[in-house]
Amino acid sequence: MAAHLSPRLTDDGSFSLHSAEFAEGFHCRSGALLEARRTYADPAQLERFSAGTELRVVDVCVGLGTNSAVLLELAAPLGLRLHWFGLEIDPAPLALALAEPSFRRQWQPALGLDLLRQLRDTGRWISPHGRGDLRWGDAREQIRWVTAQAAGRCDLVMLDAFSPRHCPQLWSQEFLAALAALLAPQGRLLTYCSAAAPRRSLA
Ligand SMILES: C[S@@+](CC[C@H](N)C(=O)[O-])C[C@H]1O[C@@H](n2cnc3c(N)ncnc32)[C@H](O)[C@@H]1O
Repeated sequence: MAAHLSPRLTDDGSFSLHSAEFAEGFHCRSGALLEARRTYADPAQLERFSAGTELRVVDVCVGLGTNSAVLLELAAPLGLRLHWFGLEIDPAPLALALAEPSFRRQWQPALGLDLLRQLRDTGRWISPHGRGDLRWGDAREQIRWVTAQAAGRCDLVMLDAFSPRHCPQLWSQEFLAALAALLAPQGRLLTYCSAAAPRRSLA
């Protein structure tokens, strides 16, 4: 286990991690899977899109990949394809999670598990259900790579940074503006954080 990360089982039985570096858990205690569904997948309202649509999705702070794997496993049965972009500074959370049998069992082999393994092994994902690239590095730098390809055309941007208190750099007005600029007119920025300062910046 990387020294700064320790495993944590959440209340719905799904696997998560705690970061000593950021002094925070990766997911809420009630459940990593529960949080991915309630905070990201449900508000995405995938039923808005018709079968055959390719959704542009940006996962900011991929971590274990839970949010993206849940989204894919809900999108694929609806006939939706994903054009996925991921940003993450640390490869250890994904590698550590995939080394855990209980984490691997959370996913369908041809969907979530295939996505996460390809990302870990190659930083890319190619599948009948979509395609994608993960950029390792500081999201404030790597966002430019997404902007160059997909500014104003993204359907969903999932922002799952550690809290503003522990990771203020990913809640700055400048970074939030860069994320907002990725969105298509009907696109949605999804996040768990309802702190006053980020809300003001987003408004
Ligand atoms: C709350 S966790 C993300 C959990 C993840 N969304 C999931 O579903 O498992 C926050 C993540 O942000 C990453 N991170 C921290 N600072 C970053 C930065 N400047 N750029 C990109 N990623 C960063 C951490 O390595 C960690 O994986």
